[in-house]
This record gives sequence, C-alpha cells and structure tokens, in this order.
Amino acid sequence: MNAKEIAAVTEQALAEARGATDAEALEAVRIRYLGRKGLLPQIMKGLKDVPPEERGEVGRCANVFKNEVNALVEARLAVFGGAARKQGPAFDHTLPGAWRGLGSLHPVSLVIADAVRIFSRLGFAVAEGPDIETPYNNFTALNTPDYHPSLDAKDTFWLQGGALLRTQTSPVQIRVMQSHPPPVRIVTPGRCYRRDTTDATHSANFHQIEGLYVDRQVSLADLKGTLAYFARDMMGPRVGVRFRPHFFPFTEPSVECDFSCHVCGGKGCRVCKHSGWIEIAGAGMVDPRVFAHVGYDAEAFTGFAFGMGIERMAMIKYGIPDIRMLYENDARFLQQFE
Ligand code: PHE
Repeated sequence: MNAKEIAAVTEQALAEARGATDAEALEAVRIRYLGRKGLLPQIMKGLKDVPPEERGEVGRCANVFKNEVNALVEARLAVFGGAARKQGPAFDHTLPGAWRGLGSLHPVSLVIADAVRIFSRLGFAVAEGPDIETPYNNFTALNTPDYHPSLDAKDTFWLQGGALLRTQTSPVQIRVMQSHPPPVRIVTPGRCYRRDTTDATHSANFHQIEGLYVDRQVSLADLKGTLAYFARDMMGPRVGVRFRPHFFPFTEPSVECDFSCHVCGGKGCRVCKHSGWIEIAGAGMVDPRVFAHVGYDAEAFTGFAFGMGIERMAMIKYGIPDIRMLYENDARFLQQFE
C-alpha cells in the first residue's frame, strides 16, 4: 500500500468508528483495522516491498493510521462506558450491604429478661430444665398423688413410654434440689404444656417463671417481701400486693398472689373484672413432703416457692388483649416491642 491508499483507509476506518452505535461495534472496527489479523499488520508486512525512497513516508502514514483510529475508538468507548454508567451503576462489591436491622425482642422474651434481672438482684440464679419430664418430677415428687385430676390425659400431654410434656416449671425445683444441697435460690423460666383449648386467655403452650428459695428460717414474710419487690419493679412503684389462701399439693400453706390492677389502680375496671386485683402467681411454703423426696432435712430448712405465667404478665404490662397475638408472628404486632 502506498501513502495515498493508507490515507484513504484511515478515513474509512475513522468513518466507521464514528458510525459505530455501541461498544461492541467499536471493538469490531478496532479488530478489523488494528487487530492481530487486521489491516495494520498487513501494511507493516508489506513495507519491505515498498521502494526504499517511499518507505519512510508509508511508514509515517501507517503510524498516523494506527494512532488516529486507536484514539477515536478509545474516545468513543469512554462515551459509551459513561452512558452505561448513567443507566445504572456497576456492581461495587466494596460498598457496605443493605442493613435490614436486627428485629426486636418478643414480649415473652422481654418479660422473662425483666423478671430474671429483678430476681437476680435479690440473689436468685437462673436454672433450667427439660420440656420433657418424668411423671415423678412433674407430679410425684411435688406431692401430687396419682389420682390428682391434673394427671388426666385431658389435661396433660403424655408421651409414648410414660414421659410427659411438663405442665409447670415446678419440676425444675426437684431437679435443682436433688443435685444441690441447701441453701438454693433460683428462678426457672421456661415453656409449659397443658391440654387447654385455645382462647383469648389460654394456650396449650405457654411460659412460666418459677422461684425457689430454701435456707434456714425462710418465712412466708420473705415470700411476700420478695413478690412485692418484684411487683413494684415490674409494674411500677404504686402497685399493691395481696395474698389469698389457696391450695397446691407441693406447698403448705399455699397462697395466690394478686397485684393491684395497673389500669384502674385498684378502683375496679373491666381489666380486673371490677375487683381491683389481678391474679399473678401461685406460691407457698415448700411442703415438707417435697423435701423428703429430695432428701432435704425439713426440720432444719424451710423454703418458699412461687410460679407465675409469663404471657399473663406480658398481656398486663403491654395491654395485649388476646394471648393468641403472642403466637401469630405478625410483624406489625411484634415491631412495637423494643
Ligand atoms: N406450679 C404452679 C402452677 O402451675 C404454681 C406454683 C409454683 C405454686 C410454685 C406454688 C409454688 O399453677
């Protein structure tokens, strides 16, 4: 090729580069003219056949061809790249990910955490037991005779092989006392199961927190002081506490513990069914027969125990009208709790 021919090819290549409408077409132009099997290597190869007096001129033209085509292709590629960037950013893997937040604690977890915090300040340690229990731990050692109605298959979930789903957290008392000599001071939050038909205040699966304090000279007054302290911390400083006589097989005497209604302050309203009080806990002094089952000396030691429903406390504390709301996992409900 002589200098004139190269100049013409240069113009043609530049025109093609100007006419390319995307990066792919530009790349095709570059390959066609400057690529390894393109026109430029051919021109260079043909240089040796050019008469010596023209060789310098042809060489210069070939350089111009190469540089101009290259520069135009590069410039236009940058434009296409910029346009692509405007349409949507390229993926930048160094940017931090989209943060979806940690969610919030379930009201049942909140009440358990609160109760554990309050009781731990009074020296209670946390103990836990399994959901699947023996009838001995759940009933017999708790002085509950075989003929007691709570053993009935209508009330208790019995499993194959004679085990059961614990109906209360009280069997943890037995486990702790069997494995630790007195004194003991524990709270045991956990799941319980009863064959209850679900309604606004009942669920077949619920949570309790149990308390147990055994030492020399523990009295009913200690129990009342402990629950009153708990009530004020959990529900506010003005809450009142009262005991009513009751019966549990594993405590003697037994009481039910009411908190004054947090809604009306004790005057009477719909929430407390106009009584001014809300039932919170079952409690009492540990029956000496329970001590006999775990090998504690009932002459030397006394103790109190209490058990309360976590869901019930959550419903009262947060004004939740229906226990089922706690199990529906509706994000709109759960997001309200921190
Ligand atoms: N376990 C009893 C219940 O579920 C509550 C309770 C616990 C009562 C400890 C007395 C002492 O009703």
